[in-house]
Amino acid sequence: MVLVLCASHSALATTIGFSQVGSESGWRTSFSESVKAEAKKRGIELKFSDAQQKQENQIKAVRSFIAQGVDAIMIAPVVETGWKPVLREAKRARIPVVILDRNVDASGDGLFLTRIASDFVEEGRRAARWLMDETDGNCRILELQGTVGATAAIDRMKGFNEVIADFPDATIVRSQTGEFTRTKGKEVMEAMLKAENGGRDICALWSHNDEMAIGAIQAIKEAGLKPGTDMLVVSVDGVPDYFKAMADGDANATVELNPHLGAPAFDVIEAYLKGDRKVEKLITTTGDLFTQATAAEEYAKRAGK
Ligand code: AHR
Repeated sequence: MVLVLCASHSALATTIGFSQVGSESGWRTSFSESVKAEAKKRGIELKFSDAQQKQENQIKAVRSFIAQGVDAIMIAPVVETGWKPVLREAKRARIPVVILDRNVDASGDGLFLTRIASDFVEEGRRAARWLMDETDGNCRILELQGTVGATAAIDRMKGFNEVIADFPDATIVRSQTGEFTRTKGKEVMEAMLKAENGGRDICALWSHNDEMAIGAIQAIKEAGLKPGTDMLVVSVDGVPDYFKAMADGDANATVELNPHLGAPAFDVIEAYLKGDRKVEKLITTTGDLFTQATAAEEYAKRAGK
């Protein structure tokens, strides 16, 4: 009888707390949905917390997961800085932490098991290489940055700038944050177009994510220009709405960002909880660059049409 109780106890679901950035983009929503679906499939009890783009909400959520004694914690951080104190608290409570997507400034301190993420610098490089090929390196560019202090914004900017530095006739004439949202992307693009003679001398928009690009495309149309033709649009994520924009000729290219981070995260956590201590410090996901050439078929696949 006791053995049966023990067996049933050991079969109790693993409880994992997940602090997510928010729901600022279609990509983020797919990421959250895929983590929830994967947890359900594996019988993991997932405590999901939406931080609404505020790090202070994330820190509160992590403290609450620690207080509840979860088996592991996953954090998709808003910004890189300010994580060490709460990560130390998790370590003291012997709760393993996995970082998803953006980074934290605590690498090398042994405060988290692993980070599962894409190479954001390379995404920026790939977007820039595509644009330089398309324009023979002669292009006046508007840039919509992601959230200030977020790895995805810092690194994409770095990679893009690194590539265009080799092209003397390629310049970023204006660069501002659109906070990774569609609304802010449109608003900031309107202001940049006004400041740049309605955008007539601009050759391309480089947006750190699809969501801001979709907002900006609307602003370009309202300014009387044809996005995708009068002004090229290049971005990152690969969300269905952006594939639709490419299929319609309103956008030109995107570097895909894989939103399915739940499965590799749960694999690492489950292995660790079973005693496996050989964990890679960084697990990198990859994605392709897509253009208008395959946009309609990709949209059909991704939107389930
Ligand atoms: O951190 C990844 C970025 O965050 C995605 O590119 C963007 O859509 C999201 O908000």
